[in-house]
Amino acid sequence: MKLLVVGSGGREHALAWKLAQSDRVQTIFVAPGNGGTAADIRLKNINITDPAALADFAEQEHIGITVVGPEVPLAAGIVNLFRERGLKIFGPTKEAAQLESSKDFAKAFMHRHAIPTAEYQTFSDPASAHDYINAKGAPIVIKADGLAAGKGVVVAMTLEEAHAAVDMMLSDNKLGDAGARVVIEEFLAGEEVSFIVMVDGKNILPLATSQDHKRLLDNDEGPNTGGMGAYSPAPIVTPKLHARVMREIIVPTVQGMIKDGIVFTGFLYAGLMIDDQGNPKTLEFNCRMGDPETQPIMTRLKTDLLHVMEHAVNGTLDTVELDWDRRTAMGIVMAAADYPDNPRKGDTISGIPAETAETVTFHAGTTLDEKTLTTNGGRVLCVVGLGDTVKQAQKHAYETVEKIHFDGMQYRHDIGWRALNRKH
Ligand code: AMP
Ligand code: GLY
Repeated sequence: MKLLVVGSGGREHALAWKLAQSDRVQTIFVAPGNGGTAADIRLKNINITDPAALADFAEQEHIGITVVGPEVPLAAGIVNLFRERGLKIFGPTKEAAQLESSKDFAKAFMHRHAIPTAEYQTFSDPASAHDYINAKGAPIVIKADGLAAGKGVVVAMTLEEAHAAVDMMLSDNKLGDAGARVVIEEFLAGEEVSFIVMVDGKNILPLATSQDHKRLLDNDEGPNTGGMGAYSPAPIVTPKLHARVMREIIVPTVQGMIKDGIVFTGFLYAGLMIDDQGNPKTLEFNCRMGDPETQPIMTRLKTDLLHVMEHAVNGTLDTVELDWDRRTAMGIVMAAADYPDNPRKGDTISGIPAETAETVTFHAGTTLDEKTLTTNGGRVLCVVGLGDTVKQAQKHAYETVEKIHFDGMQYRHDIGWRALNRKH
């Protein structure tokens, strides 16, 4: 079978890498892909990003299944378009993708279906937003309603920061339409977890748990990023907490979408905050896999991903059981100079070792020109290490990181600290 993976990041490299392990896969096209997918002989980059042109391509090439990585094509309706043309694709429709593409939609949905989340109100008028902030006090969280490529959330520790965020979004329109409405919500303290499941419309198949590291610098300091590293499993998610998240958040979400007449298919990612009493609340939904969470999760998946995808697009995920590598997988993101504000491109990358049983390097912002690999985006690589313990996984990952070089590279040295500090 021929497959198509849409996207160009580390997430898409990891999905394509995993799909390519299936005996039944003939070619996997990656649109547009990166330097890592270009170098893998089982994968083929195609330089197409427009959804309608991708549907033409899928038709001509007789693609069996298309898997979509990023949120932007999903929110633009790529799934609707493919389905109208009878093409099999795994992802949510444009309507269902509103769980991620509109914070107001997601909050109203959670409220309607009694799914635990922070208290909130939505505003488009700056004066009312400022009044609400004054009434509630700080810390408080200001979120642009629409997709803002990771720049739409301000966790304001002071009233000044909160008012400035409202001015930036509602008065100065710095985020354009995405910031024309804002959700202002209660600050939640605790530990964050990424809880990702596959949904075929009605059946839910949970993937292994994971934890991301959003801040750029060690000790969770510096600006927010797309994610600087992740590991799987997340030891904070005990079997008891897992059951509770399924019962209180995931199942009501999938059933709530059915009740609202917007059936959800695709990866569903609930970003959770677990408070110090162990209670989970939903910070946000994403309608896709996480990046970098996908890289450690796919490294641990032993089941044939093509088999899983076939059941996912045919509505029979209830018949699938996933088999996981019991080891911990830890992914360290290596980012370009000046990431996240203004990442530099064009630095030569050297020293990436071949894949072993203990380490795999996934590419994101890279480009391969003849034989030279250069940086081409903010997050450049995600180096995954596997090990019997969190410590071993971390050791294997950092041993590989230390072999790799590009000018200006930045990475965190403490990925996994929460899991390492945990007393079992
Ligand atoms: P989001 O894009 O909604 O995931 O938000 C980005 C980051 O902001 C999250 O990963 C959290 O670290 C933080 N965040 C979002 N909402 C809240 C909240 N209500 N309380 C505390 N932190 C939050
Ligand atoms: N790693 C967080 C995200 O993919 O949104």
